[in-house]
Amino acid sequence: KYFRIDGNRMILGGMDHETGKQKGDPYAELEKYFKKTFGISNYKILKKWSGQVIESLDTLPFMGRTIFNKHRYIATGFAGAGMTMGTLSAMVNTDQILGRKNVYSEMFSTLRIKSIFKISLRGFNYFYHLFKDRFSRSDVSLDTLKKDSGAILNLNGEKVAVYKNEKGELNKLSAVCTHLKCIVNWNDSEKTWDCPCHGSRFKKTGEVLAGPAREPLIRIGKK
Ligand code: FES
Repeated sequence: KYFRIDGNRMILGGMDHETGKQKGDPYAELEKYFKKTFGISNYKILKKWSGQVIESLDTLPFMGRTIFNKHRYIATGFAGAGMTMGTLSAMVNTDQILGRKNVYSEMFSTLRIKSIFKISLRGFNYFYHLFKDRFSRSDVSLDTLKKDSGAILNLNGEKVAVYKNEKGELNKLSAVCTHLKCIVNWNDSEKTWDCPCHGSRFKKTGEVLAGPAREPLIRIGKK
């Protein structure tokens, strides 16, 4: 958990998790933490939001010349520290383009490989979800699915991402992520479909919110 206080306002964050692997309700957990830690009962929540950050396996950003194209430079993986790392990456990239030495070049190099083990684990994570999630079962059905909620259901032998709107109407999409074919999960806090393999996110109606997927989830039948 982390927070900033300005006068009588506070920004409270936390419950960080990998995309598609959310457990429980992060907002409820943060509120519980707030009450327990600060002992304040007279408060009002003004806004709630969440966002994704990109983090490398060794948690350091990547900056500088890319491996395969010496005229292409990269600046990514800031993991929520964009103000600092964005500025630093501009300095590193500028120095590399101008052929100047920069003490941070090596540390943030795109050529560094910190852990083959961790890279292998990521590969395993992909295959694990690719196969396991195809055989998982949901305890809800079309009838018991709550309004303004979604679930992955087996319908006619197919994994279907079903969203039920406030009026009780169903929106059915293929649950197969259009990136590399993992099965997406329903994120009830954000009302999105999230993929546990590489972090793609889709609106409840299937449009892409965040890549690497570029194509929307495929619609099944009529709305
Ligand atoms: Fe879904 Fe890669 S398979 S993001």
